[in-house]
Amino acid sequence: MDVRVYRSAEEASSAAAAHIAALVARKHEAVLGLATGDTPLLLYRQLIALVRSGGLDLSRTTTFNLDEYVGLSGDDPRSYGHYMRTNLFDPVGIDLARTHVPDGLAPDVEAECEAYEHAIAAAGGIDLQVLGIGADGHVGFNEPTSSLGSRTRIKTLTRRTRADNARFFESPDDVPLHVLTMGIGTILDSREVLLLAFGDGKADAVARTIEGPVGAIVPASALQLHRNVRVLLDDGAASRLALRAYYDEVAANLPP
Ligand code: GLP
Repeated sequence: MDVRVYRSAEEASSAAAAHIAALVARKHEAVLGLATGDTPLLLYRQLIALVRSGGLDLSRTTTFNLDEYVGLSGDDPRSYGHYMRTNLFDPVGIDLARTHVPDGLAPDVEAECEAYEHAIAAAGGIDLQVLGIGADGHVGFNEPTSSLGSRTRIKTLTRRTRADNARFFESPDDVPLHVLTMGIGTILDSREVLLLAFGDGKADAVARTIEGPVGAIVPASALQLHRNVRVLLDDGAASRLALRAYYDEVAANLPP
């Protein structure tokens, strides 16, 4: 994995935004996989700024989000569909027909998940997937012990994840128990991954992801099997990495 530690979340997010802008400049019709949560908010702010300054044109890109809560409509302010429109899609003016978020109200969940996988394939696959990470090492909503070959499907959240995400709801009990999420296999099929993590609260999950054994107990550790993953961290999230000095040395002396 390509591990980069930045002085701040802002700096890491600017680097991620520049990376995405370079990809879209090379491939206007790039397919972007997008994440929610607090972590990518600074990245989305940077992307909005780039679009407004003329440094990025997202009008021909297609997007697929990782996940959605079952039982929430995309108009519900607590849904990920709403989060994406508020924090990226509306500000950059992307045609919503080019954006995809699993439908948390789909009457036939299995058909919805299958259709989501087909839509990704029909778009040519995901060029670049943005990921955050849960404190327990989940990516998307692939909780510990998710199959490393999993595809988009319904999952049950752990108590810990529901507690972590309770800040968007009235109480942990109001956080839906079920979600639709791309699988680990879906994520591993993307051509490139940018994983962002900020703050001490993510340090343990980050260390286990990068330096621990590959195993379903830390779903993000499956990324060790992917050929093109860049991990962008701040000091807090990097604080438990045994090989931190090595990563800094690599980043400071990139091969020509
Ligand atoms: C949720 C999302 C994940 C996200 C994680 C971390 O569980 N489904 O995609 O990475 O939260 O969220 P945050 O970035 O707010 O710490």
